[in-house]
Amino acid sequence: MQLVTEDNITELAQRRWATAKDPRTAELMTALVRHLHDFAREVRLTEAEWMTAVQWLTATGQISDEKREEFILASDVLGLSMLVVQMNHRFDPAATPATVLGPFHIDGSPELEFGGDMSDDVEGTPLYITGNVRSLDGTPVAGAVLDVWQADAEGAYEAQLDVDEARLRAKYRAREDGAYCVRTITPKGYSIPMDGPVGTLIEQTEISHFRPAHVHFLLTAEGFEPLITHLFEEGAEYLDSDVVFGTKQELVVRFEQREPGTAPDGTTCDVPWVEARYDFVLQPCAPR
Ligand SMILES: [Fe+2]
Repeated sequence: MQLVTEDNITELAQRRWATAKDPRTAELMTALVRHLHDFAREVRLTEAEWMTAVQWLTATGQISDEKREEFILASDVLGLSMLVVQMNHRFDPAATPATVLGPFHIDGSPELEFGGDMSDDVEGTPLYITGNVRSLDGTPVAGAVLDVWQADAEGAYEAQLDVDEARLRAKYRAREDGAYCVRTITPKGYSIPMDGPVGTLIEQTEISHFRPAHVHFLLTAEGFEPLITHLFEEGAEYLDSDVVFGTKQELVVRFEQREPGTAPDGTTCDVPWVEARYDFVLQPCAPR
């Protein structure tokens, strides 16, 4: 019979999990066991604290559904999502940096033409985001797909609202010359959802629970690494304290005020509008 003691339990548990049939699973699980046990020893975890943690995890699962991703949010505010992104996307310094996906992306957004309006009838100041998609050597990436999503002028995403149709999200395609044009509304900085277990935990700290104003992008193109990133408004509040650690200097863009007149897609905008220009630089796929 195997005698279990406080001293040998970590070794015993690791040995069991090392039997995982997939070698990578065995590596992940033995390391997880080791670090969890080290954590418990380091903080002298009490049973009450352990139970509180289990209940928090349970609540995080229970509040999640196909639209609410509380575990992604938890990972984001712990800095884990951004760490994983940085380790796995060590792009050339000239390429557009990757950031977190966040909890609000929805698959299957409708495709819009160059300059098509993804804000539809959502109120806000018209915003045109224009520029080119190119490779590291400057070659246009024709046909690159830009999946775009953002919050409304109140800071709310479609995933947080009870709506049936796509709202403030769309897919655009770069033209032959690599040019793209997104028509939307200016985003607003917002608080992450504070009505769930993540919010409950954050409220016990001095952590700012806001994100600076931004628009999300997921770019895909044949022969290039997928790029998940954001563009942030220069001068926006919370740029220095982004609760999910997603802000990067290279992604901060000037939002220029424009008078009524011709918009970047050649149409006429009869109210004041805002223009943000940004060229996305994609990292070619590593040779396999
Ligand atoms: Fe966001």
